This record gives sequence, C-alpha cells and structure tokens, in this order.
Amino acid sequence: MYQLIRKFLFNFDAEKVHHFSMSALKLICQWSLTRKWLTAWMKPLNNKVVKIWGIEFPNVVGLAAGFDKNASYLRELQALGFGAVEIGTVTPLGQPGNEKPRIFRLPKDKALINRMGFNNEGVKAVVARLKDWRAEQESINSKNRSQIKLIIGGNIGKNKVTPNEEAWRDYEICFRELLNTLITL
Ligand SMILES: Cc1cc2nc3c(=O)[nH]c(=O)nc-3n(C[C@H](O)[C@H](O)[C@H](O)COP(=O)(O)O)c2cc1C
Repeated sequence: MYQLIRKFLFNFDAEKVHHFSMSALKLICQWSLTRKWLTAWMKPLNNKVVKIWGIEFPNVVGLAAGFDKNASYLRELQALGFGAVEIGTVTPLGQPGNEKPRIFRLPKDKALINRMGFNNEGVKAVVARLKDWRAEQESINSKNRSQIKLIIGGNIGKNKVTPNEEAWRDYEICFRELLNTLITL
C-alpha cells in the first residue's frame, strides 16, 4: 500500500506533496477518534521511556529539524509516534527561503537534496504556536487524560539579510525567545 501511494505522490513536486500530506494528516487528527486510532496504529514497537541528560523522552524516536519548521504539526507528529520533535530552523524574522523548486528527489539513492534556505515564519509566530500547544496540553491534562509528554527542541539560525558579523545577534534573539517558551512546555 505504502509503495503504491509513494509511487503516485512521486509524480508531483516534493514540497507540494509535503504540504498536501501534512494537511491530510491534520484533517485526520482533528477528530479525537481518528487521532486515537492513528496513535494506536503508529505506536512505536519500542515504546519505553528513556532518560537522557535528565530529560524523560517517551520513546527513542525523534524527528530532526526541517520537517516542522514552524511548529505547525506537533499534534500530528505525536500521533505518528514521535517522542521528540526538533522544530525549525527558526530565524528572528520570517523569510521565504530560496526559489522553488528547492527539494530534489534522488529515488535511486533513496535520498533528497534540499536547498530550502531556512524558509520559516519567524520566531514570534513560532513562539505563539508553541504557547497554543501548551494551552492545548494543559486542557488535556486538566481533563485527566493520560498523555505522554512530547519533547520539543528548537533549531535556530540567522536571517539571510543578516551579515555574518552580526549573526550572533540573530542566534541570541532566537535562543532567548525559544528557551523561555520551551522550558515551560
Ligand atoms: C527538506 C529538508 C529540510 C531541512 N531543513 C533543515 C533545517 O531547517 N534546519 C536543520 O538544522 N536541518 C534541516 N534539515 C536536515 C535534517 O534535520 C537532517 O539533519 C537531515 O535530513 C539528515 O537526517 P537523517 O540522518 O535522519 O537522514 C533538512 C532536511 C531536509 C531533507
């Protein structure tokens, strides 16, 4: 089934397929019944809590930066079984990234070449979304539902327009903004 769907989706631009797939997943996760069904279906085989650097991860499956650049899909990624998600790369100001197309499939090598150029909505928009996520989690917990905590990390970068000598400022802005939010999640 997966092979068939993949073959079909490979006829279209990789970035468009990414957004299409995540929108479809968002739709499925909108209803608690379908979300619970997906969560149960995708539950990792090794679903044991692991403690690393004093942090308790629900399992050993984590997602690297670049997939959820704007923290838009945390609920969906949790339903897919991820125990940790690294959001970003986030820059101080939103920026469009490089010209499209900018993701290229190499099917024979089972690989991708990407030159996205740190497209993202900017740290303020991402922080707002993380706060919404926290509010949603608090409402779930207050209803006494057992929910394993998703660990969220942040990946930060400099804006394209920032000269290299000033890059440290961009990192500092993003670090402070994200740290204040992430430690309270
Ligand atoms: C389309 C795409 C976008 C990515 N964007 C970012 C990014 O914004 N920031 C970053 O640090 N890494 C980014 N990466 C790199 C990934 O985080 C990861 O390091 C890379 O895909 C290798 O992971 P793997 O060893 O699990 O295959 C991106 C990768 C891909 C394929």
